[in-house]
Amino acid sequence: KTKYLADYKPPPYFISHTELTFELDDDGLDTVVRGKLHMRSACEPGTPLVLDGEGLALQPASLKVNETVLQNSEYEYNEKTHTLTISPSVLPSDTFTFESVVKIRPAKNTVLEGLYMSQGDYCTQCEAEGFRRITFYIDRPDVMATFSVRVEADRKKYPVLLSNGNCVAKGDSSDNRHWASFEDKFPKPCYLFALVAGDLSHLSDKFVTMNGREVDLKVFVKGENEVRKCHHAMRSLKKAMKWDEEVYGLEYNYDVFNIVAVPTFVFGAMENTSLNVFNSKYVLVSPETATDTDYNSVEGVVAHEYFHNYSGNRVTVSSWFQLSLKEGLTVFRDQSFSADMNSATVKRIRDVAILRTAQFAEDAGPMSHPIRPASYITCNSFYTATVYNKGAEVIRMLKTIVGPEGFRRGTDIYFSRNDGKAVTCEDWVQAIQDANTDIDLTVFRRWYNQSGTPVVSVDVAYDEGLSTMTLKLNQMIPATSKQPTTEPMLIPIRMGLIGPDGSQVPVDLNDGSEPALTKVLNFSDRDEKVVLHNVPKGTVPSLLRNFSAPVKLERTGGVSDDELAFLMANDVDEFNRWESGQKLALNFMLKCVSEEGEFPAVPEAIINAFRRTLTNEGIDAALRADVFVLPAESYITEQLDVADPVRIRAARKHFRKQLAASLKDDLEKILETGMADTGEYKLDPESQGKRALKNVALSYLAALESKDCYELCLKFVRSGTNMTDVLAALSVLSSSSSPEREIALCEFYEKWKSDLLVVDKWLSIQSTCTRDDVYDIVKALTAHESYSETVPNKVYALLRGYGAANVHMPTDGSGYRFLSEQVSRLDRINPQVAARIARSFTRWRKYDAVRQAQMEAELRKIKQTEGLSKDVFEVVSNCLAQA
Ligand code: ARG
Ligand code: ZN
Repeated sequence: KTKYLADYKPPPYFISHTELTFELDDDGLDTVVRGKLHMRSACEPGTPLVLDGEGLALQPASLKVNETVLQNSEYEYNEKTHTLTISPSVLPSDTFTFESVVKIRPAKNTVLEGLYMSQGDYCTQCEAEGFRRITFYIDRPDVMATFSVRVEADRKKYPVLLSNGNCVAKGDSSDNRHWASFEDKFPKPCYLFALVAGDLSHLSDKFVTMNGREVDLKVFVKGENEVRKCHHAMRSLKKAMKWDEEVYGLEYNYDVFNIVAVPTFVFGAMENTSLNVFNSKYVLVSPETATDTDYNSVEGVVAHEYFHNYSGNRVTVSSWFQLSLKEGLTVFRDQSFSADMNSATVKRIRDVAILRTAQFAEDAGPMSHPIRPASYITCNSFYTATVYNKGAEVIRMLKTIVGPEGFRRGTDIYFSRNDGKAVTCEDWVQAIQDANTDIDLTVFRRWYNQSGTPVVSVDVAYDEGLSTMTLKLNQMIPATSKQPTTEPMLIPIRMGLIGPDGSQVPVDLNDGSEPALTKVLNFSDRDEKVVLHNVPKGTVPSLLRNFSAPVKLERTGGVSDDELAFLMANDVDEFNRWESGQKLALNFMLKCVSEEGEFPAVPEAIINAFRRTLTNEGIDAALRADVFVLPAESYITEQLDVADPVRIRAARKHFRKQLAASLKDDLEKILETGMADTGEYKLDPESQGKRALKNVALSYLAALESKDCYELCLKFVRSGTNMTDVLAALSVLSSSSSPEREIALCEFYEKWKSDLLVVDKWLSIQSTCTRDDVYDIVKALTAHESYSETVPNKVYALLRGYGAANVHMPTDGSGYRFLSEQVSRLDRINPQVAARIARSFTRWRKYDAVRQAQMEAELRKIKQTEGLSKDVFEVVSNCLAQA
């Protein structure tokens, strides 16, 4: 059942050209797919041809090799293993064609892989292994073919027909039907195939590439009045196209670029060549319906999918074990793009917060894996924060180590050397290595094979007589059952020094290199010692600037609150200023949860440090706002051996409330200034920052639970002109026990009930609220008219939100039971969606014995579910392996 990277072998047969014909029926119950594959043998004669095919109704006498119909004895379709085996006796030794005709039922496809229907329109999702649900094929990424596709459908019901590449011909056929033909002349693996047919409206634009080629751009969506919500996606696309030319020298190679927004989609979006299919959440935005975060996500995801055109499509992966090759690199590219378009520090802070809450927890739990996994049951299990986000950090470290020019030399080699090929992570590192022969990346490569978050401990000692500061570094990569021994890795540590007066002290290694205000220490042994010279007394080190490596940094003996407060006020590295504030807050909250009884008062020094940041108008409003976004409950959980979710929530609330009480006047001033600022909605980083700061002030003031504040929130919900402000206020009310809560939620729903994406927000704001009765609220919502278990966005809004934030409430374990029942139900509908919900249990070992027993029981129940999918099985069996 388990597949291993070590077993990788190239395929015995290749496909050079693929012809497909789709006869789309009116209701998606009887769709005919004809395939003609132009094949080439790369094996000994006598090797059977094994094609993938799942749930395909094979039509009688439709299998042909070189036009000759195969007899029943010459093939075998095994519906269990999803394979069609063709006897070698009918296979020519060099090239030949293979044909098949199958019927499929897209309207019944709730898995949402292959060809399915989203609200009446046909669309596809083939990554990773969905293409085998469309036609018989060698469904693996190292089989790359050019494609000719003909689509035929009813002219009225499906006026828009799309597939990859250019539309080369179209016309009308009989019975109100029409057709269109497409050519994709760049060889691609079948996971990049796409087809869309539906009644869609669109927005058009064009882009002229650096060599003057004109590209037609279109964004498709259902409903003419939704087109106005596509402008931001279109602008983002054009910016991304330009950025990739300027920063990486990569020019788009097709004549068209289409984006289609669909409401029913398991993931964020998909980079099919020249025809990206998107979850509508990452396309449709307007000030009234979308938050600033939504706008930023649209920009980031549109860019991400566009960047895949090179990092993923032109250069693709040889197998799914290499997924991080395309995803890590593309996430890094989209992060860099967003940093360039907006505030780089704010972007970095938010990316690091995601990494540390989601990926660090994953890496410490039963689903931990290296960014290049060595084995899996289903490759679907590895579309993870580790492969994506830690993968991006690994690319970022490479850039830090070789520098921006060396990195660009490396990517030039990578893209030109591997164009049109299916390659591996080794090929990627080799390209960077070949472009930077002065640096040895041997030790660095271990990042691809070892899992777990490295812990870097630093011992800082000062010698007054010599004016030296000595850093003793140690790195520890946690051992696990799959990884009993670990080896040190190359960890770049960017650092600077802040003198006692707050000024910068040059980092002087006394090794012949020029002292500089920031330096990168390339730390690659288990233990290393670094001596810094000419360091004045009272100097404080600023380590891991801009989060230069995905590690946990610890100081021997701890860092004092005074030192953190000093860095929070004086560090030139804005990331570390934020980081110091996070640590101050975290240390205090950890102290609260570890002690019995009443929580202590927040020390004056901490309050003053936060006040100084809040009122310092020299700092970007967005940064000030982020300082007040405290470490998440789940992040606090990860710092503890045994976590008490109730006490963690209480400690976090206590800290917020104390801060709010002490900073009340300042917060009110900020809120007033924000309210007075009622110009038109603008999206630039400065305007976003102002809104963020104002809304942070509002949420802190709400911690004081005053009637005035709740009334103000209700007013915002009613009269707010943008969703950022409205949702901030609604979110405050949703967690409150004020009478305004019910009114606001009802009115909001009535106003927006026909807008799917806004209703998702309404669901998730309730499922993630911090009320004691959240379990009852969520349970009731599963029966609400707006909820649907067949629409992934709805399930995520309600159950993923609940699973992440609230599954431990209430304390009698009913949340666990509820969620496990949901997982079993959902698994019959959509295994990938169910598996995502099942991941809410992965940290079960972090809690007390009673909770552990409750969760373990539910995990066992899920595991016993009849017909359990590989996807959920892989999650729960890994969890239970910890039992
Ligand atoms: N390649 C897509 C992206 O990150 C995601 C596809 C997800 N598919 C899956 N089976 N997990 O842009
Ligand atoms: Zn991607």
